[in-house]
Amino acid sequence: MPASSPQILFLPERIAWQVRRLKLMQEVPGFWAHWDTYVSADCVFAGNNHLFMKTWLYRVTMGSYSYIAGARAGFTTIGSFCSIGPEALIGGLGMHPTNFLTTHPAFFSTKKQAGVSFVRSNAVKELSQTHIGHDVWIGARALILDGVKIGNGAIIAANAVVTKHVPAYAVMAGIPARQIKSRFKKGVADCLEQWQWWNYPERVLKELAPEFTKKTDWTVADIKRLISKASEIE
Ligand SMILES: CC(C)(COP(=O)(O)OP(=O)(O)OC[C@H]1O[C@@H](n2cnc3c(N)ncnc32)[C@H](O)[C@@H]1OP(=O)(O)O)[C@@H](O)C(=O)NCCC(=O)NCCS
Repeated sequence: MPASSPQILFLPERIAWQVRRLKLMQEVPGFWAHWDTYVSADCVFAGNNHLFMKTWLYRVTMGSYSYIAGARAGFTTIGSFCSIGPEALIGGLGMHPTNFLTTHPAFFSTKKQAGVSFVRSNAVKELSQTHIGHDVWIGARALILDGVKIGNGAIIAANAVVTKHVPAYAVMAGIPARQIKSRFKKGVADCLEQWQWWNYPERVLKELAPEFTKKTDWTVADIKRLISKASEIE
């Protein structure tokens, strides 16, 4: 199913989502979704997630503190502390083979996308899982193709089309997306990946927060100092 493209939602499913939405807002701490959103029943939220108007999620799991400002995602795992911009499209698009005699799914899929199928079994895997790491920022109207893995701390520029895996802490822009820079020197990025600050409890992160924005030219020594400060707080 083209989970990330517009599709008709019939009234019973719209009503079922509104019931699920109210239940999620009561049961998952810090979960909030605008009424003009849609989330399929199999999505899972870790907590402190906000879904703004026009967000559409199909088979998505979302880590803590990640939010979506009106984007679509399908068949995707999203880590913690991710910021996803308006009108981004993430996974769930569907793959049509490019080297068969035709790209039309009536010849390789039983799903009857155009109301008919000429085959009894599926010849290809149409949907692959897409993975977004922790602390990833995805800009407005970015497109992340099915099956792509985006490393922790990466930034995807507005309007980028991401076709390949993205290394941790890379800044990607353009069509197809290319790495335009790295957020940190290699040693610093490695250190952050090992530290995994996003797994600390909120109590610790609140105390560390002023340190996170104190400077911009980070060194390995800075990160090591933060790691020992975090263990003192704990
Ligand atoms: C990716 C982004 C963060 C770049 O930030 P930055 O690190 O400050 O980078 P710079 O602005 O110095 O740009 C670096 C280069 O990338 C180019 N660039 C920046 N954004 C780009 C984009 N979206 N697409 C293509 N190229 C881009 C710049 O023109 C510059 O090119 P140059 O080196 O030839 O001059 C920013 O441009 C962006 O796309 N932000 C997304 C905003 C958004 O969608 N917000 C939604 C809210 S969740």
